[in-house]
Amino acid sequence: GKGQYEHFMLKEIFSQPTSLKKTIEGRIDSGAEPALEDIDASTLADVERVRLVGSGTSYHAALFGAALLNQSGVSARAIRASEYDVNTGDPEPNTLFVAVTQSGETADTLGALRRAKRNGIDTIAVTNVVQSTAARIAETPLYIRAGPEIGVAATKTFSSQAVMLTLLSQVVADAADGASTVDDVERLMTDLERLPESVEEVLASSDAEAVATHYLGKDAFFFIGRGIGCSVAKEGALKFKEITYEHAEGFASGELKHGPLALVTEDTPIVAVCTRSGERTVKNAMEAQTRGAPIVAVAPAGHEAVSEADAHLSVPDVHPVCRSLLANVQLQLLSYHCAATLGRAIDKPRNLAKSVTVE
Ligand code: M6R
Repeated sequence: GKGQYEHFMLKEIFSQPTSLKKTIEGRIDSGAEPALEDIDASTLADVERVRLVGSGTSYHAALFGAALLNQSGVSARAIRASEYDVNTGDPEPNTLFVAVTQSGETADTLGALRRAKRNGIDTIAVTNVVQSTAARIAETPLYIRAGPEIGVAATKTFSSQAVMLTLLSQVVADAADGASTVDDVERLMTDLERLPESVEEVLASSDAEAVATHYLGKDAFFFIGRGIGCSVAKEGALKFKEITYEHAEGFASGELKHGPLALVTEDTPIVAVCTRSGERTVKNAMEAQTRGAPIVAVAPAGHEAVSEADAHLSVPDVHPVCRSLLANVQLQLLSYHCAATLGRAIDKPRNLAKSVTVE
């Protein structure tokens, strides 16, 4: 049941310290290379490029994974499952296909996975459901072990997928290239191991409810971020529209000035995910602020975005990749509190189903 929580979504947000512990268990060994059971790293030695495919939130996890693989020195692309057959030629040999699907039953994603198999390339399914269709089709299922997710809005499974893909990215980079080129990989691994505690910290101290009530009733919410932060911004916007029924969009920070800026007014808060120092996102957010838009900085205390912003959602000062995951937890809470204040059907939003089994 929901226990002390009013909604499954809130329960699932608060269970992330536990679900992340399960995802990580036995897979990280204090600072060393991650170890993934079921994958024989030697089979990854020939991987030259990775295609990550998913739908909705799982597509955003795929974007997260692709950004990280590219930073780690492995060429990668995230593709929306529903666009896979129209927008993608047959893969070259030495391509690794990764299906990202919580349920393992999403028709669009299964269609892409089947096609990849027909093409004879190696397939992995990152999924939450043991023996799901995706797990059975793919050569290698990688289970995120997040436990059942009841709320239609994916929360803990996104976090676990992103962590799983972070681990996978390092295993692939090590096997294919000999070493990952991601910044400060040792800190990444130690901070990933401590991520459950960091999430606990965010959950205990979040100002998301106050920010939600302060800005509710505005025309639209724009979420911006760059690189990995862009995948978090897009996920933040999807969650927001899904459960609040309010208008929200997620953009790459630098794209704001190429069109969406025309929509910006004092009634369009900009939620800026700033997880690296010296980020251009700050400048992009300030361009919107000049047009009257309030800025909510999702950043560590002391980040240059914070002094410029109108409101702040804090993330612990950990490795930038982990900050992004923690920023996402803040955005989950922001959406949740907006939807709760509006009295929405949070666990079963109108028109949506937990698992979409039609194309
Ligand atoms: O089960 P899957 O991860 O394949 O589901 C994919 C999407 O349908 C799903 O993530 C959807 O976008 C969620 N309702 C988002 O909260």
